[in-house]
Amino acid sequence: MGFPEHRMRRLRRTETLRRMVRETRLSVDDFILPMFVTHGQGVRNPIGSMPGHFQLSVDELVKECREVVDLGIPAVILFGIPEHKDPLGTAAYDDKAPVQRAVRALKKEYGDALVVITDVCLCEYTDHGHCGMVEKGQVLNDATLELLAKEAVSHARAGADMVAPSDMMDGRVGFIRDELDEAGFEDVPILAYAAKFASGYYGPFRDAAESAPKFGDRRSYQMDPPNAREALVEMTLDLEEGADILMVKPAGPYLDILRVAREEFDCPLAAYQVSGEFAMIEAAARLGWVDRERVMMESLVGIRRAGADLILTYFAKDAARILRG
Ligand code: PBG
Ligand code: ZN
Repeated sequence: MGFPEHRMRRLRRTETLRRMVRETRLSVDDFILPMFVTHGQGVRNPIGSMPGHFQLSVDELVKECREVVDLGIPAVILFGIPEHKDPLGTAAYDDKAPVQRAVRALKKEYGDALVVITDVCLCEYTDHGHCGMVEKGQVLNDATLELLAKEAVSHARAGADMVAPSDMMDGRVGFIRDELDEAGFEDVPILAYAAKFASGYYGPFRDAAESAPKFGDRRSYQMDPPNAREALVEMTLDLEEGADILMVKPAGPYLDILRVAREEFDCPLAAYQVSGEFAMIEAAARLGWVDRERVMMESLVGIRRAGADLILTYFAKDAARILRG
């Protein structure tokens, strides 16, 4: 192989040619839109570090999802901002809390046209902001499992189509699977935040969900960023415990993990393009330093090319509009 017989530019000459030999395609079917639901009525609080995103009360969330459905985005994932926080995050498993009410309202309005996924974690609901029960400054693993399972069952009872544990406690997928089955929700799939790294890219999200830890950090339960082999162990365990879909998070800085996971596992793979990845593109675009649309689409196609089937992204609506043309 060599020049001049081979000229790679021949197939790049026109957009139509390029379209024919394109290896990876983005589709609106790949997108899951994260949304923040709060208490109250008529609430639409803009999130400063996440332009275009809001803390929405249930009524506003239902309205906002009309556009999501019309754009053909198949799914949303809900995060809750409760009225009260306490050491055990009791609002997480309160059937009348914002997420549970939102799920009921969305299922009533949109039925099967919208897949409603719920994030299962305690950090938005605990006064200390950690993802589990705390004792003597330590985040307890086994005691937390009960609470997470109660939360997952409460979401399923409200009608959630899928639950997504994001806490990174050991054994939670299996524990939640058992409790869901026990409660008669054997058909509710688990989207496991399987390889979730302790990342600085979650900054804007913690403002949005009001979930920053009040002491310490999450490094004793989320993964250490340099570890790739360990990510495969995490994913293998979650799959064995009954996860239906495995997630890598964040997405952009961890494309190597996605690539290896694609080769290793045959289940659907999801990647979470997190708040910081979104915010950096938005900020640079505002400064005029990058072209927002181009960088947005390039970041998403990169995640697909690395091996993700599904992408959780704050760009879902804008990208869907562009794909629709
Ligand atoms: C909660 C949770 C976090 C995110 C999703 N679920 C934050 C965290 O672990 O601190 C991050 C999402 C984002 O940054 O967009 N466990
Ligand atoms: Zn959490």
